[in-house]
Amino acid sequence: KTKSKTKFICQDCGYESAKWLGKCPGCSQWNSFAEEVVPTTSERIPSNQHPQGKPESIAAIDTGQEPRTSTGYQEFDRVLGGGIVSGSLVLVGGDPGIGKSTLLLQTSFSVAKQGKKVLYVTGEESSKQIKLRADRLQTIADELFILPATDLEFIETQIRHLQPDFVMIDSIQTMYLPHISSAPGSVSQVRECTGYLLRISKSLQMAIFIVGHVTKEGTIAGPRLLEHMVDAVLYFEGERHHSYRILRAVKNRFGSTNEMGIFEMRELGLSEVRNPSELFLAERPQGVAGSAVVASMEGTRPLLVEIQALLTPTAYGNPRRMAAGVENSRVALLMAVLEKRVGLFLQNQDAYVNVAGGVRLDEPAVDLGIAVSIGSSFRNQSIHPYDVFIGEIGLTGEIRAVSRIEQRVKEALKLGFHRCFLPIGNMRGWKPPEGIQIIAVETLQDAFHFAL
Ligand code: TYD
Ligand code: MG
Repeated sequence: KTKSKTKFICQDCGYESAKWLGKCPGCSQWNSFAEEVVPTTSERIPSNQHPQGKPESIAAIDTGQEPRTSTGYQEFDRVLGGGIVSGSLVLVGGDPGIGKSTLLLQTSFSVAKQGKKVLYVTGEESSKQIKLRADRLQTIADELFILPATDLEFIETQIRHLQPDFVMIDSIQTMYLPHISSAPGSVSQVRECTGYLLRISKSLQMAIFIVGHVTKEGTIAGPRLLEHMVDAVLYFEGERHHSYRILRAVKNRFGSTNEMGIFEMRELGLSEVRNPSELFLAERPQGVAGSAVVASMEGTRPLLVEIQALLTPTAYGNPRRMAAGVENSRVALLMAVLEKRVGLFLQNQDAYVNVAGGVRLDEPAVDLGIAVSIGSSFRNQSIHPYDVFIGEIGLTGEIRAVSRIEQRVKEALKLGFHRCFLPIGNMRGWKPPEGIQIIAVETLQDAFHFAL
């Protein structure tokens, strides 16, 4: 038997090196290299099996209709692009304790309730623990099977025997293939196991969901290095001290990556949040300087969120500009425009901008709201609490048109807002709804004139 070779592999990004390195040239992480035994070529499992086909005219290719199965949660279905596609491999990543197991257990249950057979494989908890949790979550169904196991070859045998429609693997870091000598959770194991699951899902046309823990230390192989192997990568995120959780796709072969699903972690598990704007505006202070509401699009859904700004004179040194939830550079740019075009003297002001609720906004349509909240804090003057701001700001201070104005305004109306500031360029070819006052603005100066 030949001596097996070892390699040093970055546990964060999968960069391989013949010798140990202190800093990874791939991802700049320190101390992330670990020695792993590399499977010899004969042991290697092809990680991706593309069917071999003949050239065919694109017009003649039959796509059929992708049959989709509902997860039982609109929020989850939307992120997947309309439900579960059979034969797909989906990675659900997130920090430990964020609720990945809970989400997949509840989903398993609602799929099983539709009469489909679901196998939930757990390498983290015992069947008893899962049962106790399922009792509490009231997710007991005859068609839901629990398998405590970590040996993937054994698991494959069980899958072939049971013939389920769906398989959940919780988690990829606990799974292993016996012929690979590195420990579960190492890059080689995680990569080979994912390749193995890919083969199972494609050959049996079975949807498989894989849980992957993400750790900041990089001690466990991050799901990042699996992204190219799977059909979809979803991240389940949230802040520990907040109860809501956001599910978003960073890759999806069967749908858009702009969609997000919002859940709330309750005593009895996760429940969907169908009207997230209400949730995000729930703690909004009213009549306070530095607070403005924007209407942002998250995928196909409008979302009203509060932006807060706080400006204070700089005590010494360079002024600080700190933003959470929006790009720092965007805030800096908007402050420059405010200075030059509206005449606010902001050079000696520290500025803190925060999107309430920990949401990330990366569309230019929130510019106007950011600028107005900064102006409001600077002048120590509050904005009318039922104003909503929509618009992108150009360098000359012009307010530029944005997409999907109707949906944004409708959402504002639905939530009881009284006035909506929007770009004048958005007024063409559209009739605003009754019940909300529209203030169409051409420049930032105009907006300031009416809002402050
Ligand atoms: P879990 O799904 O185990 O997280 P993960 O699989 O991502 O590690 O959920 C962990 C947390 O969720 C746990 O600390 C407690 C909380 N939780 C609730 O608040 N309510 C519930 O009904 C459940 C099942 C969990
Ligand atoms: Mg778990």
